[in-house]
Amino acid sequence: MQVYTLKNKNIEIDFIERGGQIISVRVPDVKGNIADVVVGYDTIEEVLAGDAYFGAICGRYANRIVKGALEIDGEKFQLDCNNETNHLHGGFDGFNSRNWKVAPISLDQFVQSYQLSLTSEDGDQNYPGKLEVSVIYGLTEDNQLVIEYAAETSKPTVINLTSHAYFNLNGTGNGSAANHELQLNASNYTPISEELGTASGEIVSVHNTPFDFTNPKSIKIACNTDHEQINMIGGIDHNFVIDDFDSSVKLVGTLSDPESGRKMEVYTNQPGIQIYTGAHFDGSEKGKNDVPIEKCAGIAMETQIFPNSPNHEHFPNAILRPGEKYTHVCIYKFC
Ligand code: GAL
Repeated sequence: MQVYTLKNKNIEIDFIERGGQIISVRVPDVKGNIADVVVGYDTIEEVLAGDAYFGAICGRYANRIVKGALEIDGEKFQLDCNNETNHLHGGFDGFNSRNWKVAPISLDQFVQSYQLSLTSEDGDQNYPGKLEVSVIYGLTEDNQLVIEYAAETSKPTVINLTSHAYFNLNGTGNGSAANHELQLNASNYTPISEELGTASGEIVSVHNTPFDFTNPKSIKIACNTDHEQINMIGGIDHNFVIDDFDSSVKLVGTLSDPESGRKMEVYTNQPGIQIYTGAHFDGSEKGKNDVPIEKCAGIAMETQIFPNSPNHEHFPNAILRPGEKYTHVCIYKFC
């Protein structure tokens, strides 16, 4: 499997066509020391056999849809229940496990860029509508990894694409990311219900909860707080509601590592961001440099529409209709 590399004078990013998986992001610290800041594996063989969500493009609907139950304009569709009783990241054969067509594309704003394309047929994983998807991976002079998603459909469908890298700014395998500080422009979050296994439908203020990242706070402090929502899943696996959402691309959060001084800003035009601290990692699998992948090995920051939006009318719209264009921008800027 071919490895494609995006390069500017500071940063190198490797990805493959399977799932568009970003397998390596090599970034300097303030002293110029380079580290690979995404969780993953040393060899392509391990990547192909390992956790297929690492750095991948998830879809057609990233995150969960309760019981895989979808209804569009009164018509019901039963999606795969590949995550206990729920549908997760597009089903058993989600976009993360597809071979995307990759081609270099020349765009003025990027030092280097590639276009990844995929056709998802009508009925793919039981979703209605033939979907043409394009994802641009672009790297700017000023160290922004820009991900631009676009899609069009032949029939009304739902769509929610995201990128699933786990970031450890001290270098993956070089200790936990739990001491990273997170700041989010999110005054509200969507709590999860144990029964549903995902967002309950409530939108709750982060004030006086461990989910208050309106000022920078260590992930460890939040994850060690005795709080029903944290205890339920052993960390953070929650969607945050971006303040002042208006579909424009804006800064939504910053992850920083006090040890290396590396910092990453996240920009998006999406209404939500899922923060996942990797609660299911238990050290049983080895990652880069043969280091076991433990809880909090990296932090996923997945820009998105809210989980289970198709079943909550007051959540942002996830329906895409013929003639409309889905456009999603996610920028990871390394500072
Ligand atoms: C995340 C999700 C987690 C887990 C992970 C994949 O996006 O929030 O609950 O399923 O994907 O392992």
